[in-house]
Amino acid sequence: MSDLQRNAVKSGIFLIIAAGVSLLTFLDQPEFFIPLILIIAFIFLIAGAQAMESWRQRRKEGGKATTAQRRRAAEPKKSSGTRKGASVVVPTGQEAGESPAGFYGLVPRSVLPGASGKPTKRPRRSRKDKRPELLHPDATVTLAAERQEANVDELFEALDRELVGLVPVKRKIAEIASLLLVDRVRQKFGLEAPRPNLHMCFTGAPGTGKTTVALRMADLLHRLGYLKEGHMVHAMRNDLVGQYIGQTAPRTRRVLERSMGGVLFIDEAYYLYRAADPQDFGQEAIDILLQVMENDRDKLVVILAGYKDRMEKFFDSNPGMRSRIAHHIDFAAYELNELVAIGRGMLQESRYYLSEEAETTLREYLTQQMRQPEFANARSVRNEMERARLRHAHRLATDLHHGWNRDDLMRIEPMDIWASDMLSLSAMGGTARQRRDG
Ligand SMILES: Nc1ncnc2c1ncn2[C@@H]1O[C@H](COP(=O)(O)OP(=O)(O)OP(=O)(O)O)[C@@H](O)[C@H]1O
Ligand SMILES: [Mg+2]
Repeated sequence: MSDLQRNAVKSGIFLIIAAGVSLLTFLDQPEFFIPLILIIAFIFLIAGAQAMESWRQRRKEGGKATTAQRRRAAEPKKSSGTRKGASVVVPTGQEAGESPAGFYGLVPRSVLPGASGKPTKRPRRSRKDKRPELLHPDATVTLAAERQEANVDELFEALDRELVGLVPVKRKIAEIASLLLVDRVRQKFGLEAPRPNLHMCFTGAPGTGKTTVALRMADLLHRLGYLKEGHMVHAMRNDLVGQYIGQTAPRTRRVLERSMGGVLFIDEAYYLYRAADPQDFGQEAIDILLQVMENDRDKLVVILAGYKDRMEKFFDSNPGMRSRIAHHIDFAAYELNELVAIGRGMLQESRYYLSEEAETTLREYLTQQMRQPEFANARSVRNEMERARLRHAHRLATDLHHGWNRDDLMRIEPMDIWASDMLSLSAMGGTARQRRDG
């Protein structure tokens, strides 16, 4: 209701009361009564005319907004509040709390109520106003624009740039991202779908990138609006299972609480269950996990990780857990070429590089190492590259009077690679170095 209308109503009420009082006072003198009635009717007429004028003015402004709204829908890229490439009307920050016209920035502020500088009462927002505007069924949205809005392109670029190989894993991540992306767009058209279950299991040998990918996954799910926070809590058996009665439930609940809004990554999850020990408290932790994975799946994602064969056994003993895992992703062991590429990438990150001979040496070294049972794929490469930096530094430092140039400070040579154990490093100052160099 405008100020004018409010004033008209107020004066109307006042006049009705005045008329009532006069009527009672001058009941026996009609000559007073008739002019009074005329005055009241005249005032009513003026107030009514003002209210009518104000109503007409508001209708005109409303019409302007509707026309503008239509124009915006037809020209999405020119409008300030639209997404690139998509005919989407986006409510922005502060404006979202204002009247429907101001909400979309369609009407200049000067014609909005309160633009005169007079403080206005904040219009009450109905439930409907709080919901984002649905798109018209004929509107179109490109998924490229949606990806850009969710900021996932840079994440995929980083995945490709930083992680060598892992083609099936990256494909699976892209599939999950597509599902969530399409869901986002569907919601904009009012096509609500049940939230997909995204609990996962990552299997693979040590050092194949499970933890690294889980971190990226948490970030991705956050960017796509699936997770509120997007952090990752790393847990192992000891973080969840106690040794005495009454310890397990609070421990597990504490970890789950910390994980809410993000990813709970349970490494070597099969250690939670000890088939040989029926008194073990692991089952208690599993039962709580199962409950939360079902009831709070809109609040957290659980990723179980470990060796494939052990994980299979774990699922056989815990079918409830198997049924709650929607995505099984296997991380294959890296091939020699991939391991060398990983090593090169790691060195490049720290502004080092392998000389041609050093790369050949690294290949030989890795071929040997890959046969060892304790070989841990990319982690072993990382460790070796760190040792190579140590040896390189020590090689330079032992020749105190030699002048080293920029390239010398960056180049890793075969002798920095081949000595694979730290014992030979400790001896490098003297005999070991002479033996290798010779
Ligand atoms: N494809 C890859 N490209 C580059 N670096 C990698 C790749 N995979 C793993 N790494 C690196 O190797 C190291 C070990 O990776 P990560 O910890 O993710 O392996 P994991 O599978 O979790 O191992 P584990 O099973 O032993 O916990 C990390 O430093 C990671 O950055
Ligand atoms: Mg790990």
